[in-house]
Amino acid sequence: MPSENIREVRLSDLDRCYEIETTAYEGDEAASREKIQTRIEIWPAGFIVLEHNGQVAGFINSGAAFDVEMSDEAFKELKGHDPDGPNVVIMSVAVDPEFQRQGMAGRLLTAFIERMHRSGKQRILLICQTRLIDMYASHGFEYLGESASEHGGLSWHEMALTL
Ligand SMILES: CC(C)(COP(=O)(O)OP(=O)(O)OC[C@H]1O[C@@H](n2cnc3c(N)ncnc32)[C@H](O)[C@@H]1OP(=O)(O)O)[C@@H](O)C(=O)NCCC(=O)NCCS
Repeated sequence: MPSENIREVRLSDLDRCYEIETTAYEGDEAASREKIQTRIEIWPAGFIVLEHNGQVAGFINSGAAFDVEMSDEAFKELKGHDPDGPNVVIMSVAVDPEFQRQGMAGRLLTAFIERMHRSGKQRILLICQTRLIDMYASHGFEYLGESASEHGGLSWHEMALTL
């Protein structure tokens, strides 16, 4: 029977998370290995991985803040991150292409929302491409509007979930 487990990230997951990030995201959309390492080291509580048969198959990472400016590129390196901040910004949701369309991102999102709720956070924010608006809406995220971000040369939308 296949086994699945969602847990907090460890530094030993770095190489595998970087591999997933670069195969799931196209071109310069992907975060660098250094950025992923920073996110693991600075706020592991906001970084969960899904293990499928003992191997990491997908993850969500994030930062927290009191005031959020969604188009702030420096925040992706957790500059301005404050673990006590009530607002959580998701930076990456990625599933290994080999395992996509099997509900893993959905299960990661459910677990992530639950964890943030339990830790007393008030809001989860993210930016996404048009094709994923419905996926986030099905988890309770509301559409806020178009984002000022031109990350990766694409157009993005802001969404938020109040916990
Ligand atoms: C987006 C991503 C995380 C989805 O992972 P996943 O595990 O395949 O997603 P799920 O299987 O949980 O999908 C749940 C639902 O979301 C929607 N969805 C998922 N991927 C989608 C896509 N590429 N296009 C449109 N809808 C999609 C579908 O409604 C899907 O349900 P269905 O398979 O029954 O149709 C994955 O495609 C990925 O890593 N993409 C590259 C990175 C990325 O763009 N991340 C999002 C940043 S905002």
